[in-house]
Amino acid sequence: MASSTLKIAAIPGDGTGPEVTAEAIKVLDAVSKIDGFTYDVEMLDWGGDRYLKTGEIVPEGGLDLLRTKDAVFLGAIGHPGVAPGILEKGLLLELRFKLDQYINLRPVKLLPGVETPLAGRGPKDIDFVVVRENTEDLYCGVGGYLKKGTPDEVAVQQAIYTRKGCERCIRWAFDYTRKRNSPKKTLTLVAKTNVLTFGHDLWWRTFQEVAKDYPDVKTDYNHVDACCMWMVKNPDAYDVIVTTNMFGDIITDLAGILQGGMGVAAGGNLNPDKGGVSMFEPMGGSAPKYTGQNVINPVAAINAMAMLLEHSGHPTSGARVEKAVAHVTGTKMKSQAAGKMGYGTREVGDLVVAALG
Ligand code: IPM
Ligand code: MN
Repeated sequence: MASSTLKIAAIPGDGTGPEVTAEAIKVLDAVSKIDGFTYDVEMLDWGGDRYLKTGEIVPEGGLDLLRTKDAVFLGAIGHPGVAPGILEKGLLLELRFKLDQYINLRPVKLLPGVETPLAGRGPKDIDFVVVRENTEDLYCGVGGYLKKGTPDEVAVQQAIYTRKGCERCIRWAFDYTRKRNSPKKTLTLVAKTNVLTFGHDLWWRTFQEVAKDYPDVKTDYNHVDACCMWMVKNPDAYDVIVTTNMFGDIITDLAGILQGGMGVAAGGNLNPDKGGVSMFEPMGGSAPKYTGQNVINPVAAINAMAMLLEHSGHPTSGARVEKAVAHVTGTKMKSQAAGKMGYGTREVGDLVVAALG
């Protein structure tokens, strides 16, 4: 893969998405020259504006187009003129499901110079990874109403878990823990087996069975509520966490703030199967009120590009970008908050480029 052109589809999206995407591509361009590979970015105008004009979110043939790429980069979605849920479901969740991106990978790493709300904690304390299942659970959209709009209304929203779905995620998490090879080498299952005695029992049994194939990996279990306490009290105890889609959504926001917030947190939606197409995104939203002001933090988007490189056949370049970002956060930036960085969006991108060499 590394010898041919890296084919990327970029969906800059809404609000400040295009601004941070531009910085991520700027860094991609610079690192490609240093490491001597070629890339091609096809820009796609999918998002709120296009939806308001055409009524279309993912245009006809859009998924097939993405399937011809090595990876997708998503800037941000969320438009003040579009009701909540439409773009989330129609674009982000649509791509996750249709491209079967069954792993949501969220590295939680406190970079040097970045402030965490946890008193007395530094980069050596906060360095773990959450592996979130990304295609099942409450996200399936299975359910319905009865007597909608009447006093007798009933709403049902079902959590679906399949053996195949949890096993492929758990197995990937074990492999990842083994490869990550941290001194802890521990995979923690986070679920709620004391209440969700069917669905999370399936997760629990599958976890125990798959663990037998990984005798070198230590295992642990936390109920999700306890996990939230431990993550604040002892974040240094975690190495890799594997969890369900809904719980993963919640705990990765908690984890995200521990690592300095939405300006730095990045994630990957992975389809690790042969021929699978993965999608990488900064975790921050579209922050429409900051659009066009050159104040939003591009670090999360640049980190997402580093992940894209790492998972698309260019791990050395991914590591190079990560190192450059850590240099910039550690020595240049005043803060990770929009407007308080000490530099503009474009200037932070330039600093990362300068730190690559
Ligand atoms: C995330 C987001 C999405 C999710 C939303 C935007 C649908 O919160 O990637 O964590 O819930 O998965
Ligand atoms: Mn979320």
